[in-house]
Amino acid sequence: MANQSPCTYVIFGATGNLSLTKLMPAFYHLEVEGRLAPEVNIVAIGRKNWTDEQWICVVKESVDFKARGGMSIERFNQFASRLAYFHMDVNDATSFPKLGQFICDKGWSCNMAFYLSMSPSDFGPVVKNLGDSQLLDETKGWKRVVLEKPFGYDSDSAKALQHQLNKYLTEEQTYRIDHYLGKGMVQNLMVFRFANILMEPLWNRNYIDHIQITHSEDRPVGTRAGYYDHSGAMRDMIQSHLLQLLALIAMEPPACIEAESLRDEKVKLLKSIRPITQKNVNAQAFRAQYSQGVLNGKSVNGYLEEEGVAHDSVTETYAALKLYVDNWRWEGVPFYLETGKNMPQSQTLISICFKHPPQQFFKASQVKKMEPNWIVFRIQPDEVIKIEMTVKKPGLEIDTQQVSLDASLMDTEGFSNDAYEELLLDVIKGDHSLFLRFDEVKACWNIVDPIIQAWSANTSFIETYSSGTWGPKGANKLFEHAGQEWRHFVEINDA
Ligand code: BG6
Repeated sequence: MANQSPCTYVIFGATGNLSLTKLMPAFYHLEVEGRLAPEVNIVAIGRKNWTDEQWICVVKESVDFKARGGMSIERFNQFASRLAYFHMDVNDATSFPKLGQFICDKGWSCNMAFYLSMSPSDFGPVVKNLGDSQLLDETKGWKRVVLEKPFGYDSDSAKALQHQLNKYLTEEQTYRIDHYLGKGMVQNLMVFRFANILMEPLWNRNYIDHIQITHSEDRPVGTRAGYYDHSGAMRDMIQSHLLQLLALIAMEPPACIEAESLRDEKVKLLKSIRPITQKNVNAQAFRAQYSQGVLNGKSVNGYLEEEGVAHDSVTETYAALKLYVDNWRWEGVPFYLETGKNMPQSQTLISICFKHPPQQFFKASQVKKMEPNWIVFRIQPDEVIKIEMTVKKPGLEIDTQQVSLDASLMDTEGFSNDAYEELLLDVIKGDHSLFLRFDEVKACWNIVDPIIQAWSANTSFIETYSSGTWGPKGANKLFEHAGQEWRHFVEINDA
């Protein structure tokens, strides 16, 4: 079903990691699913002096590695007929009109999506060059620019970047990516909340004890130390992905499903987060760095031994945060956010912990401790919603056990779509729902700015946690009472 409009996608940074591991496989899967109109073509921009054939070979290798259920040669060849490679230096302004001419000579669509999969320091100059060469002019066909995260380094730099872009781009033409919004389960959060009446009466401070959003990776910083060592977990994961998850789980129902209504609600929620003062940074945030340890059965390096990391770096590879949302729904309910690299397992969970019933009904029975009800959304690796409840154990005595209602959301083959498939299509459709508006990005920076300022002012010490463990014990100090602790597991029933 090719229901999309024609489009020429131009990928800057095409030979980089993100493009090869995510974008090209996502385009290939869209091809397989029949989601690309015949007039969708993809121009890869790179510094290497490659031919189309060389580029297609590189793409084939990465698609082969990533294709769900194996790559079909026939489908790949069909996909390859959409590809072209254009060699240019993005700092050379004269090469931009040549790019325009190249697309024109091919007779490809004048609807153009420029995808900037490159260092954020290149965003301004590339957009300027596109603008100066009339490549953003919408007289013939729409022109859209997709910007990978991070959008800025803090609040001030995000504003400065936006100021640069404003000269050439409208907000309508701008698509700021947070790839978490393209994940199937993340979109399901909205369906779960707003398509079921059952939850709404419970979704507030009267019934919810606390909410946790935890993300862990069983891998190190890898080849990205150059970027990561200047960023750290607070900027890399919390400012973007985890705050987006918080916004979706806590926002009010939007007036309608359209992008602006949705984004209005997210911004409203983000602005209701109680600002963290410098004085409160230690009470509400915790950072640490992985040291040597054993991960997946192998001894692994500590962060300071990773290639590209400064020997005295205090960049955090683990960050945890406690936030409060000052509105009627959430007053007093703590939201705990946590992320870390080199932990035992890769997964992302949103865990909603409900309060205990007001009275201990089973005092006179064998039931010693009542477990709270939980709703757990497992965003990845597999998509699961689990509602945990207490029921009576079979038998003559009154004793209880936890059971759970499970909703696994994989397709029948056990696959789920990659977030980028959805996002790449949405750019063609012109749907901004899953992209960030600037006021949203700004609100997220405002939340974390005081923390990153306090942390960057203290370069003498950072706690460590052994690789392969669930992070530093010290982060437990964020919890309000003894019954609260990090929840890192969810039982998954085999289908
Ligand atoms: C990226 C971060 O935005 O998200 C990475 O820069 C992180 O450091 C990644 O590993 C996590 O994404 P996912 O989809 O693998 O959970």
